[in-house]
Amino acid sequence: MASFGSFSSCFLKLLFFLLIAITILASSSSSTSSSSLHPLAAISFSDHHDHTCISEFRVLNRRKLLNCHDPNPHLEISVNPNSSISNEEFLTVTVSGVLIPSSSHWIAMISPSSSYVTDCPLSEAYYLQTGDLSGLPLLCQYPVKAQYVSNDPDYLNCTKSECQERLLGKCLVSTCSGSLTFHVINIRTDIEFVFFAGGFDTPCILTRSNPLDFTNPKMPLYGHLSSIDSSATSMRLTWVSGDEQPQQVQYVDGMSQTSVVSTFTQDNMCSSSDLPSPAKDFGWHDPGFIHTAVMTGLHPSSNFSYRYGSDSVGWSDQIQFRTPPAGGSDELYFIAYGDMGKAPLDSSDEHYIQPGSLAVIKAVTDEVNSVNVDSVFHIGDISYATGFLVEWDFFLQQIKPVASQVSYMTAIGNHERDYVDSGSVYITPDSGGECGVPYETYFPMPTPAKDKPWYSIEQATVHFTVISTEHDWSVNSEQYQWMEEDMTSVNRSKTPWLIFMGHRPMYTSSNANTSVNPLFVDAVEPLLLEYKVDLAFFGHVHNYERTCSVYKGECKAMPTKDVNGVDTYDNSNYSAPVQAVIGMAGFTLDSFTTDGNSWSLRRIAEFGYVRVNATKQELYLEFVNANTRNVEDSFRIYH
Ligand SMILES: *[C@@H]1O[C@H](CO)[C@@H](O)[C@H](O)[C@H]1NC(C)=O
Ligand SMILES: *[C@@H]1O[C@H](CO)[C@@H](O)[C@H](O)[C@H]1NC(C)=O
Ligand SMILES: *[C@@H]1O[C@H](CO)[C@@H](O)[C@H](O)[C@H]1NC(C)=O
Ligand SMILES: *[C@@H]1O[C@H](CO)[C@@H](O)[C@H](O)[C@H]1NC(C)=O
Ligand SMILES: *[C@@H]1O[C@H](CO)[C@@H](O)[C@H](O)[C@H]1NC(C)=O
Ligand SMILES: *[C@@H]1O[C@H](CO)[C@@H](O)[C@H](O)[C@H]1NC(C)=O
Ligand SMILES: *[C@@H]1O[C@H](CO)[C@@H](O)[C@H](O)[C@H]1NC(C)=O
Repeated sequence: MASFGSFSSCFLKLLFFLLIAITILASSSSSTSSSSLHPLAAISFSDHHDHTCISEFRVLNRRKLLNCHDPNPHLEISVNPNSSISNEEFLTVTVSGVLIPSSSHWIAMISPSSSYVTDCPLSEAYYLQTGDLSGLPLLCQYPVKAQYVSNDPDYLNCTKSECQERLLGKCLVSTCSGSLTFHVINIRTDIEFVFFAGGFDTPCILTRSNPLDFTNPKMPLYGHLSSIDSSATSMRLTWVSGDEQPQQVQYVDGMSQTSVVSTFTQDNMCSSSDLPSPAKDFGWHDPGFIHTAVMTGLHPSSNFSYRYGSDSVGWSDQIQFRTPPAGGSDELYFIAYGDMGKAPLDSSDEHYIQPGSLAVIKAVTDEVNSVNVDSVFHIGDISYATGFLVEWDFFLQQIKPVASQVSYMTAIGNHERDYVDSGSVYITPDSGGECGVPYETYFPMPTPAKDKPWYSIEQATVHFTVISTEHDWSVNSEQYQWMEEDMTSVNRSKTPWLIFMGHRPMYTSSNANTSVNPLFVDAVEPLLLEYKVDLAFFGHVHNYERTCSVYKGECKAMPTKDVNGVDTYDNSNYSAPVQAVIGMAGFTLDSFTTDGNSWSLRRIAEFGYVRVNATKQELYLEFVNANTRNVEDSFRIYH
């Protein structure tokens, strides 16, 4: 959702674009047969624009390409190393021969290398999400990332100078250089660095590097695990490769499974005549091939190892992993969060950056490496690629230390699914035209069918019911009926705890009028009470907030303090679910705008995650601040 705040001038600029856009849109839609935009879309645009101000780079695309009138013959851009690139590198990109260094100079990494061309098809579409209405694209595909050369502190004052022309030992022409570091991972298609003048607002090309290839574009990469059922004797591994041929996962001693290979194309991305999407156009990047294979014959709560690939394209390292406990066993220790996204490991701008994500994934990685974490639940707003598809690769790389070792279960969020005319409940452009297709391909969950992203799974003492808040949940809808059937079927002797998860919350003290849909609450909250849900986790709002045992806005019971002063809820005398917002895993934090909610017991706006120890007797929860690693809230629920 939106983060409000500190970029007001940028916001005004975008608001201006927005007004023009809406005016044009209104006049154009009257001349076509398409219906006018839903008012929610307009609200979302302003939210979206506010986000884009995290980086002015977000509005870069589709600039009219001006010619740089730069007759300077000395200008050069070089990349080190300049031979082919391994799966992960920090490249040094140097511009030299610059006569007058300028704060408007910047370098973009583009991929594929040909994507800089200026003759891609003209589109008359209005790219509202970028706030940019120019008709001629600058870049047929958006840069992967970019930096101002002034990130090199020695650039503007020309600390590194070269003499280009000498006469009698005296330097006649002296030029300057600057160097930047770019974190590059194997995204299969070749890359190129382009040196621009004119800032992000009025860019023109000064010079460009040679294209650089990846040493092995077919390399199997970014393997991540998920559970397929409650037996915990099978685990799914999903990975990415430039190779279409089936590969294998080899595990335990001599066992192997062959991958099922899929991919998606630009045609699979959604768009609308009212609102053309980046995914279908300049945000597109070829995802290669997504391989998935189910390792069977495992034991629950056990350590195994695997590697994936093939003799012809290469193999991953041997990776240790842990199966979760089987449904009905004694104890589960899991981690949960929402709204993570990614952030670059260099100083680059990207179209969308979630600044807290690195600290959170680091903290979770440390936890996975030091204690027996059984599984992770990431409940929506996964990568925030939002139609800029290369960012999925960077996200998968970022979560790999966690997701390659333990089951990484997900729920869908608005930024994976929503788009105008796409069947999502919310008519917003939040997925940038992905409409859940990349999400489903990268994160296959045990769901009933394509674009029905709801499922349940049992691990030890807990039955998890995971829903999509972005698909119809109205009374008697297909998903609603599924929720009823699923929660009716829970055997509380086997799994004493019922935890409900989805993306958009029912309770928040942050701009509740835009974050909470009363229709959703009216339809679904009664089910939580009827089936005695112990705990409901939601994301979407970017902070942490915990309620009393709440129903229809009223505290039905309050926790009491245990001997250690920890809030303790007595669910042996069940009154209502405890709800918690846990959307604090990366996106810029939201402040709390309402103090007076009686149901709100704890409010923390810090980056972090929740860890849960679920024994037969109790659920014990802690909110961990990812930066300090301090536990800033803890509570228990017992039967
Ligand atoms: C790579 O760098 C070396 C020395 O730095 C240079 O000789 C060579 O021409 C460069 N190759 C390319 C393809 O730019
Ligand atoms: C140039 O600026 C940088 C950063 O401000 C500083 O560290 C450096 O000493 C300066 N160099 C010169 C030659 O002034
Ligand atoms: C699995 O590995 C972890 C971390 O190496 C270790 O702490 C744990 O004891 C192992 N568990 C089993 C069941 O071998
Ligand atoms: C519920 O689970 C318990 C414990 O696993 C089992 O003994 C019982 O048969 C189950 N009940 C049903 C109706 O399946
Ligand atoms: C939401 O509520 C806040 C304060 O409660 C108010 O300032 C704002 O205008 C409201 N927004 C909408 C869209 O109703
Ligand atoms: C059960 O909870 C209700 C309120 O939710 C309370 O009035 C009642 O006293 C409780 N009963 C017991 C036995 O604790
Ligand atoms: C979970 O709680 C049980 C019971 O209090 C305890 O024995 C166990 O060590 C805890 N597990 C973790 C990982 O903290």
